[in-house]
Amino acid sequence: MEHKEIILVLDFGGQYNQLIVRRIRDLGVYAELIPYSAPLEKIKALDPKGLILTGGPNSVFTKDSLVMDSRILELGIPVLGICYGAQLIAHLKGGEVKSAATREYGKSKMHAEACPLFKGVPESSDVWMSHTDYVARAPEGYGIIGSTDNCPVAAYGDAVKKIYGVQFHPEVVHTEYGNTVLRNFLYEVCECKGDWSMTNFIGEMVERIRRKVGDRKVLLAMSGGVDSAVAATLLHRAIGPNLQCVLVDHGLMRKYEVEGIVKVFRDGIGMNLEVIDAKERFLKKLKGVTDPEQKRKIIGAEFIHAFEDYSKSLGKIDFLAQGTIYPDVIESGFGKAALIKSHHNVGGLPSVIAFDEIIEPLRDLFKDEVRKVGFELGLDKKIVMRQPFPGPGLAVRVIGEITEEKLRILRDADYIFREEIVNNGLDGEIWQYFAVITDLRSVGVMGDMRTYDYTVALRAVTSVDAMSADWARIPYELLAKVSNRIINEVNGVNRVVYDITSKPPATIEWE
Ligand code: XMP
Repeated sequence: MEHKEIILVLDFGGQYNQLIVRRIRDLGVYAELIPYSAPLEKIKALDPKGLILTGGPNSVFTKDSLVMDSRILELGIPVLGICYGAQLIAHLKGGEVKSAATREYGKSKMHAEACPLFKGVPESSDVWMSHTDYVARAPEGYGIIGSTDNCPVAAYGDAVKKIYGVQFHPEVVHTEYGNTVLRNFLYEVCECKGDWSMTNFIGEMVERIRRKVGDRKVLLAMSGGVDSAVAATLLHRAIGPNLQCVLVDHGLMRKYEVEGIVKVFRDGIGMNLEVIDAKERFLKKLKGVTDPEQKRKIIGAEFIHAFEDYSKSLGKIDFLAQGTIYPDVIESGFGKAALIKSHHNVGGLPSVIAFDEIIEPLRDLFKDEVRKVGFELGLDKKIVMRQPFPGPGLAVRVIGEITEEKLRILRDADYIFREEIVNNGLDGEIWQYFAVITDLRSVGVMGDMRTYDYTVALRAVTSVDAMSADWARIPYELLAKVSNRIINEVNGVNRVVYDITSKPPATIEWE
């Protein structure tokens, strides 16, 4: 995207770094996270309106502490150092950083001085601290603009050089005037105008796609998830019939799901959308397989084969489009976590099919921005606010071997649960809610007859990012109703349980 204004956030590994970027964008200025070690030339070439140095687990005293190219402090570009970033600037500019005996964590009262960074911040307000080292003396020429009981220099700055350091975290909600501080940095210090909005984004992106694609063709794999749905709608707005969408139906979708997608996108919006019926192909490969990782691998590989076959039938492909979003980009570029589950999404496609170029129109956006774009494009709430659904679909919610019988039970039970959650208005506050069919049968009694049927588990969690989650405190009455309905309406179930485990130690999905 050609943003007129950009703030670069230099990443020193702090836990709130993505949040800083999101806050800045919410305030109307495009921001991007880049590694702290980005070369000076690259930074200059991006022509940023301002730089932010983030917090991080480092100390300026350790031998291999992270340091950016210190010449960025001489470019005349405004800089805001946060936590470690503030200590680093102080250290590099001849101030003094000290290590405290204990870590300061939590809210502190800060006394603020009048200055451009603190315009509108009262003399005394709450700030959020999380640090051990602290700035004991500001560099020469820099004024102390904030102090707390524990930090003599909780904030310092030079209004002429436009370089500031704050020990507290303005990006977290616990800092009472955090947003004001960030807004001041953008609009008072960096003198931004604020040209980042989803309306601008859509307009510019549509123009860009048109220019790039001309009258050539674009292929996009749709999963029914928010990202691919929004990407498809945006592309459709730009190039209409030159977009070909395809949905691989692996037979592991939820009840009425494929029909619903076709209704909205093909019948409603008028997209070219082809559904490949690959149910048999997938179920055959999955026959007899019980190991979760094995299931995931088979589905990932089969998905690619099915897509490959389809793309070959189209002949030459000019562009492949994907619904990659910003967190995917950051995650693949900045280190890797231990493998808990091999995730499946359409990300593996580019390596196996031949095409000229890739288009990822949402590559710069956070999930909440993608949702805003979806709404602005006129998509329904049902699609835009759709709960996450794993790529391998119901396969990871059928414990043990996947059979037609178990899939039928799961689909019906899951449908009832989802319907009840929505009818009771809980869908907005619950992150994910679904049913799982266990591999366990137990004895029951129905109408004086002995039964020996499956146990269905209900799973509902609250979360902000799926990294951690808590089980949702659904009212007992509602659980009772769902349980009754499932037992009465779904053949083959005689027991319903509710999963009361958080993540960690469990994961959201059962497999
Ligand atoms: P877990 O089960 O690891 O899930 O706590 C975290 C989030 O990821 C979703 N999930 C997937 N999403 N492909 C996806 O695109 C996958 O293979 C996959 N597996 C799990 C899960 O639904 C939850 O939102």
